[in-house]
Amino acid sequence: MYKYIIKGGKPLYGEVEISGAKNAAVAIIPAALLVDGVCRIENIPQISDVTMLLNILKRMGASIRTVDRHTMDIDCSGVTSTNADFDMMRRIRASYYLIGALLGRFGSATVAMPGGCNFGGVRPIDQHVKGFEAMGATVDVRNGLVVAKAPEGGLRGSEIYLDVVSVGATINLMLAAVFAQGTTVIENVAKEPHIVDVANFLNSMGADIRGAGTNVIKVRGVKRLQGGFYSIIPDQIEAGTYMAAVAGTGGRLLIKNVIPKHMNCISGKLEEMGVTIEEGEDCLLVKRDRPLRRTNVKTQPYPGFPTDMQPQLSTILCLAQGTSIVTEGVWENRYKYVDELLKMGANVRVDGRIAIIEGVEQLTGAPLKAYDLRAGAAMVIAGLCASGVTEIEGVEYIERGYEEIIEKLRRVGADIEAVDIREPDDEKDIERIG
Ligand code: EPU
Repeated sequence: MYKYIIKGGKPLYGEVEISGAKNAAVAIIPAALLVDGVCRIENIPQISDVTMLLNILKRMGASIRTVDRHTMDIDCSGVTSTNADFDMMRRIRASYYLIGALLGRFGSATVAMPGGCNFGGVRPIDQHVKGFEAMGATVDVRNGLVVAKAPEGGLRGSEIYLDVVSVGATINLMLAAVFAQGTTVIENVAKEPHIVDVANFLNSMGADIRGAGTNVIKVRGVKRLQGGFYSIIPDQIEAGTYMAAVAGTGGRLLIKNVIPKHMNCISGKLEEMGVTIEEGEDCLLVKRDRPLRRTNVKTQPYPGFPTDMQPQLSTILCLAQGTSIVTEGVWENRYKYVDELLKMGANVRVDGRIAIIEGVEQLTGAPLKAYDLRAGAAMVIAGLCASGVTEIEGVEYIERGYEEIIEKLRRVGADIEAVDIREPDDEKDIERIG
């Protein structure tokens, strides 16, 4: 158990290397269940959600070999179990991809209802279930378990229209459709870069998936996928978080290992706020040397402004001149972190899906809590921008999705450390790791 301690008010200067995309990795790792042979996967981020998924696969009989810090050989040929460890599954949202992958490979899956970040509302999977059922499966969701069974003869290709644009349902249905008989057409799908990445991974192993990145995905069932190499794309949201951090603190950061096109939806907003962004082939130079200006933003599925950047952007808008209006268009309740910003002197009023932010001159350090992954990242940004000391608890959420956040920030001049917070009995053992 750690907390972060930040002495804020320092501009950031230097270079940050972005890791592989969390939301691609957490889908590609379960997708390896469909592959007969060894998948060598590069650019895997070292984050706790990934560790958890690798452990789930191992318990199911997969062989996993570490090649280097970010490269693994995953061989699921030996997996025979259609059940995943329920306790481990409940801790992460992406465990729902095991339903599509197991159903696709074995024709049956028994998994725990997914956990993950708590935005204070329900995170339904009805669109996943609707798609599996359209392919002929029976799906029973009861007592925290999802039990799915393919019909005699296996899943059948089908036409599926998603009622809401869902990242998870899009990927899950692609996974289930890889070996289905005939063609599956999924309409009104999500278009996030990680959707394309998962389709590219599966295609490179022998699947036949077309249209990823557009509104309609067509999957022609194949008989078998064979092993191969794949490198995961860089994390759009991690990159956006460091961009927001330097926009908040001022300074100049070279953000390396990004796909600039994936960043357009974020770069555009920051530029409106007075941030200067220069684009290289696989990097962005981000500078902020004048006061931040207000803006309005509405989160939407890609290529709209990502909901996973909403808390970070709202945090720096607290320091922008004028009144900004933020509208959360994806999740029903993603403003729990605002109470923490109020403790620092921010002026924010939340009304349903809208936050009205009046910019203030400065934020003041305070004891804060991370309520979920991106809210946690926003608290780190708030601490970096604030005067005085900010302490953040609940940082295990942050470590689910940000590789070496402390080290990366310290290298660019931030005063941040992680401090062990064990019970008083263990206090003599307090160890500083930051
Ligand atoms: N929804 C339904 N029914 C469904 C599925 C979704 O109504 O069956 C609704 C949700 O309630 C939500 C909207 O559709 O209002 C979008 O949900 P989506 O399914 O796209 O979200 P997800 O797949 O559960 C992924 C990311 C989230 C990210 C969202 C939106 C992963 C593991 N998680 O979640 O990432 O916020 O897409 O882009 O890929 C994060 O990384 O911090 C994170 C929360």
